[in-house]
Amino acid sequence: MVDRLKEDLIETGSFGRTPLKRIERYEQLDPQKGVTRPAGTEENRKIRDYAVGRMKETGLSVKIDKVGNIFGRKEGSKTNKGSVMSGSHLDSVINGGMFDGSLGVFGAIEAVRRMDDESFDNERPLEVVVFTAEEGSAFSPILLGSSVLVDKLSVDEALNRKNTRGQTLEEVLENMGYKGDFEGSLDDVEYMVETHIEQGPVLYREKIPIGIVENISGVAWVMATILGEENHAGTTPMRMRKDALVAASDIISFVNKRANEMVKELGASTVGTVGKLNVFPNGTNIVPGKVEMGIDIRDVVQKNMEGLKNETLKAMKDIEKKYGVDISTELPPMHIPVKLSDEVVNMIDNSARQVGVMTKRMNSGAGHDSQNMAEKVKTGMIFVPSVNGISHAPLEWTNWEDIENGVKVLTQTLKNLSRIAKR
Ligand code: GLV
Ligand code: MN
Ligand code: MN
Repeated sequence: MVDRLKEDLIETGSFGRTPLKRIERYEQLDPQKGVTRPAGTEENRKIRDYAVGRMKETGLSVKIDKVGNIFGRKEGSKTNKGSVMSGSHLDSVINGGMFDGSLGVFGAIEAVRRMDDESFDNERPLEVVVFTAEEGSAFSPILLGSSVLVDKLSVDEALNRKNTRGQTLEEVLENMGYKGDFEGSLDDVEYMVETHIEQGPVLYREKIPIGIVENISGVAWVMATILGEENHAGTTPMRMRKDALVAASDIISFVNKRANEMVKELGASTVGTVGKLNVFPNGTNIVPGKVEMGIDIRDVVQKNMEGLKNETLKAMKDIEKKYGVDISTELPPMHIPVKLSDEVVNMIDNSARQVGVMTKRMNSGAGHDSQNMAEKVKTGMIFVPSVNGISHAPLEWTNWEDIENGVKVLTQTLKNLSRIAKR
C-alpha cells in the first residue's frame, strides 16, 4: 500500500467525525461515531478542497461544473477526445463510513499518480471525477450531480432542490465555493470506471478480493406525508383518532411484507425499506398528527421495483381510508436498473488477471453514479470487500490490503483503456 493513498483516506476519514479522529485500524472505530458530511456542509467543503488540492498537486487541470461536479483532467498523448474517466463522490450519509465514495475518488487520483511515477504514456485523456450529492442525505433524489451530467435532470431543477434545512443546492454550492461555470459534458468521454466498497457481505464472506459489477439495482424512492389529527393522548377515545403514526406503521409493515413475499414467490432480488420517519409533534402524550416518511425500493429487475412501488402507492389509498388520514406523496426521479458495459467488465477482468488478483462477477444492490454514467458511456465498477458486509454505518471498514488490490486493478484497467485506439 502506497502511504500517500492511505494518508488521503485516513486524513479525510476524520472530516465529519465528531470529535475529529484519524482512524487507521478497524479496532479504532466507534460504533456510535461515523462520518457525517452531506452535500453542502462545511465537512463536505473540506473534503472537496482536500481532493482538489491533491488533483492539482498531481498536475491535473481542475474544472467545476454548474452543479459542483469536479473534473481533474490529464491530456492524452495521441488524442484529446474519448477520455477515460474514474471517480465517485465525497458526500456521505448521516453517520456513515469513511470509504463510501472517497475510495473511488482518492483511488482514481492514486492511479494517475502511479501512472506518472512510471512515466506511463496515456494516449487518451484521463479524468478524475467527483460527483455532487450522490447520497441523497441532504438533497433527494440520490445521484443528483451525475443525473445532471447525463441530462436526466436539468441544471436548474438540480440547483433549485432544497435540503432538509430549506437551502437550495445553488445556495450551498455558493457557500462552499463550488458553484462553477464549466459546461460538464460527456460528449468526449468514452469510458468510466468507478472503484467502490462492496457495501454488502459477499466478497468478505467468500474471501474474494475483487468484485466486478455486471448490473446495478434500480432505486425508487417514495416520499410520503401522512396528515392525521394531533390531539391529547389521554382524552381522545380510540375510535375518534386519526393517528398518523399508526397509519405509517401499516405502510412500513406493507413494504416489508410484500418485499419478503416477492423474494420468496418470485425469487426476486427486491428490497424495500422505510429508513426515514419524522413524527410530529413527537410527544409521548400526543396522538401524532403528522408523519413524514422515506421509502426506498430496489431491484435489478425494473418490473419488480416498479411493481412494489405501485403496490405500495395502492396500499396507501386503502390505509388512508382505514384511518381517515390524508397521504400525499412525492416521487423523486427514479433510477432504473442498468447493465454495465461488457467491454469494460471484460477489461477489468483481464486487468485483474494481469496483476494477479482473483475476481468475482456480481450485482450491486447499492446505487452508484455509475448507473447514470452507464446510460451514456461505457462503464464498469470495481468492488472491494466490506468487513462484515457493513456500510452506511460507523463500522464500515475495508482492509488496507483490499484497498491496495482495488487500486492495482483500477490502475491497470485505466492504463489498458487509455491505450485503446480512438476509432
Ligand atoms: C447510495 O449510496 C445508495 O445506494 O443509497
Ligand atoms: Mn457510495
Ligand atoms: Mn453510500
